[in-house]
Amino acid sequence: MKIKTIEDFNFRDKTVLVRVDFNSPVDPQSKKILEDTRIRAHGETTIKDLLSKGAKVVVLAHQGRPGEPDFIPLDQHAQILSKILGKLAKYVDDLYGEKAVKAIKALRGGEVLVLKNVRTYADEQKKRTADEHAQTDFIRSLAATADFFVNDAFASAHRAHASIVGFTVGLPSVAGRIMERELNALGKALESPEKPCTYILGGAKADDALRISRYVLDNNIADKILTGGIAAQLFLAAKGFELGKLNTQLLEKKELTPFISGIKELIQQHPSSVETPSDLALDVNGKRGEIKVGQLPTDYAVCDIGAETIKHYRDIIRDSKSIVVSGPMGIYESQEFMNGTRLVLSAVAESEAFSLVGGGHTVAAVKQFGLQKQMGYISTAGGALIEFLMGEKLPGVAALESASEAHK
Ligand code: 3PG
Repeated sequence: MKIKTIEDFNFRDKTVLVRVDFNSPVDPQSKKILEDTRIRAHGETTIKDLLSKGAKVVVLAHQGRPGEPDFIPLDQHAQILSKILGKLAKYVDDLYGEKAVKAIKALRGGEVLVLKNVRTYADEQKKRTADEHAQTDFIRSLAATADFFVNDAFASAHRAHASIVGFTVGLPSVAGRIMERELNALGKALESPEKPCTYILGGAKADDALRISRYVLDNNIADKILTGGIAAQLFLAAKGFELGKLNTQLLEKKELTPFISGIKELIQQHPSSVETPSDLALDVNGKRGEIKVGQLPTDYAVCDIGAETIKHYRDIIRDSKSIVVSGPMGIYESQEFMNGTRLVLSAVAESEAFSLVGGGHTVAAVKQFGLQKQMGYISTAGGALIEFLMGEKLPGVAALESASEAHK
């Protein structure tokens, strides 16, 4: 990797700004954090490591977006972090003002402080270059208190936000453990995947499925694309199947129909690589009913892939050497429609291939079926993973690369 890591510097008694991604699901009524996977991931690796090296750790993170119900302060995150670390993670309700600077200066080696939600700073989310962000009061005030910047927020690396790119201009900057781990695992899946390589793309973001398929097929990264979820319906529509009024309306509501022509073109160019379901499961008055795609259109909602497709997909998975999964095959939360997702994911878990799983719903499904331990790598990222798989350069990663180059 071209990026420097925690191994490259001595952090004893140094003040280290650490950008993590603590963004977690929040109950809209009680405002309580529902799930601590991301806090645990950063806490148990990067933050613990830096503390054991004697660093004064200053945590920067976001939670939610201004105006959204999950836009809450980070005091709860600090409490959860304290439990994970087994020592107090202090919290200051200030980001770069006098209170924050005073609290940073009072830190001793081996102590950790969480600052206020970075998205309370109005210009945090402005799309600017690293140099432009570096000129702001926010970045200048905090950079003046610190010796190093560690970016551990891979899940936010697709955002050119102030706290992601701004500090890399003036401070020696390195990747944290999670950033390093994600880049290594994703590099394995994208740069040099063992062949045959299969991408399993489902869920509702059918436009993302098209863009990922386009990139990985055109660049000879993937050999097979297995489609499921709403993505599969759009791919079937591109093959000329009439889905029925209810299903077509859903695609229109999600503004997905403009992508049909792109999918048609993709299938024409890679006819043997793109797999679509040969049968589907329908919601027939709350019960599972299966039809072959030749029996379309239907008046019922498509909710899963059918038994024949499941078997076919499992056979392909069994013969694969590397597998990427993004998006469920159907409504996995429901007993009636979980089969496709459960059986496809269990085939991935049982296979000897290197597997990479990512995205909120996919990871939730893996957990629901108790398959976490059998997966090769579970990414903490959602949007950042998708952009990475589309071959996009992530601004947070690019900023670390430039910083590693500048501070050689
Ligand atoms: C995520 O959950 O994908 C990251 O924390 C980024 O959040 P954002 O989409 O609000 O920028």
